Amino acid sequence: MTLAVPLARTECAPLPDPVVPTVAGARLTVPLVDGTRIGYANLDHAASAPCLDTVRDAVDELLPWYASVHRGAGFASQVSTKVYERARRVLRKFVGARATDAVVFTRNTTDSLNLLARALPKGTSVVLFDTEHHAALLPWRGPRVHRIETPASAGDAVLALAEALRECPVGPRLVVLTAASNVTGEVWPVAALTEVARRHGARVALDAAQLAPHRPIDIGALGVDFVALSGHKLYAPFGSGALIGRADWLQAAEPYLVGGGATAQVVDWGDRLGVSWSKVPERHEAGSPNVVGAHALAVACETLSARWESVVAHERALLRRLRAGLASVPGLRALSLFGADHDRVGVVGFTIDGLDSALVAAVLSAEHGIGVRDGAFCAHIATRRLLGRAGAHEQRAVRVSIGLGTHAEHVDRLVSALRTLVADGPAVAYHLVDGRWAPVADPRPLPAFLSEVP
Ligand code: ALA
Repeated sequence: MTLAVPLARTECAPLPDPVVPTVAGARLTVPLVDGTRIGYANLDHAASAPCLDTVRDAVDELLPWYASVHRGAGFASQVSTKVYERARRVLRKFVGARATDAVVFTRNTTDSLNLLARALPKGTSVVLFDTEHHAALLPWRGPRVHRIETPASAGDAVLALAEALRECPVGPRLVVLTAASNVTGEVWPVAALTEVARRHGARVALDAAQLAPHRPIDIGALGVDFVALSGHKLYAPFGSGALIGRADWLQAAEPYLVGGGATAQVVDWGDRLGVSWSKVPERHEAGSPNVVGAHALAVACETLSARWESVVAHERALLRRLRAGLASVPGLRALSLFGADHDRVGVVGFTIDGLDSALVAAVLSAEHGIGVRDGAFCAHIATRRLLGRAGAHEQRAVRVSIGLGTHAEHVDRLVSALRTLVADGPAVAYHLVDGRWAPVADPRPLPAFLSEVP
């Protein structure tokens, strides 16, 4: 099993003309510890991707019309309601959902998978790999949850799933799968795993949070039953995500949240209230719907759908450049489940021998204006297992993740910064503040709008 692999050195082809959708913040500059400013290199798309310009413009256009959804007679309310229901249709198309599938707007992937967990029929067995992000790992409770240990290869994952499903008790079954890892970027063999699930009568829920911003998703081609995704990773940071999939379990379940919008009727029976719940999707969308978030998410989906070819080409070229550059950094070990040649999206987790990952991230920010994430990436078991099997002594890694806000210069700056750090160490002194590394003398001003609360 290859868990920490030196990155393959590959020739850097010139980047294709980046005819990709643009993002807000493309011209943002940030202060450095030496008192100068530099263009921000946002290499943390996997945590929260920047807002697409098309999304920002669409939100601007909607705001004057913003009004209540499903609960107002006014013209602006009718427009807002139409915008919200149109967004549902766009999401359905974005993932190639079946006509009978439900599209429920949620806050994000975590919310979507928690909703699904509450909607499982009694006695459902849940089977998942322990490499899952916490959003997909933690919502399932009870004796019928079976966690499969980190597989050694994509082929092993298929065999392990088949074995786990053979052991499952009779009754409903759900397999929970990640589409692409938020730690390594590796794309899981979803279609092969889904075929195994089908053979054993199991449904499949796909955590598509990390795949959806990078590749088209087709529910039918993948053979999955549910897809969960987040707007804030899909260039639409306005608080919406979605759960899309088979309606029957969702329709049979008690509402996830109770309140206005989820109710068809409430009557006073004296000793208690009689409530009849709405049908899906409203059944699981109690409270005033987030029409701005849903519209933003839909516009992001439409923008990506119209440009997939160039989006994918742009990211592939940058990822090749990134991995080739990282391979030139002495002591850098990329975390990997399935090996250096496995298909992956623009996410690379790594450690550097002898350097604390949290310090690496702090230096990249303070001295080079580069934003990355360090830690265990809300996937503690996966990250620690990858690090442990790699023989790394620390519990954290650095993660670089790219997307539509990334340029070749950002990648080149990162590689050069890491090489300098390995060769010379940090340029200024750092100390720990509340458990995080920070420059001892840090003159970097916060933006003016962040004034102190009097
Ligand atoms: N799940 C997000 C990440 O990977 C927050 O950073």
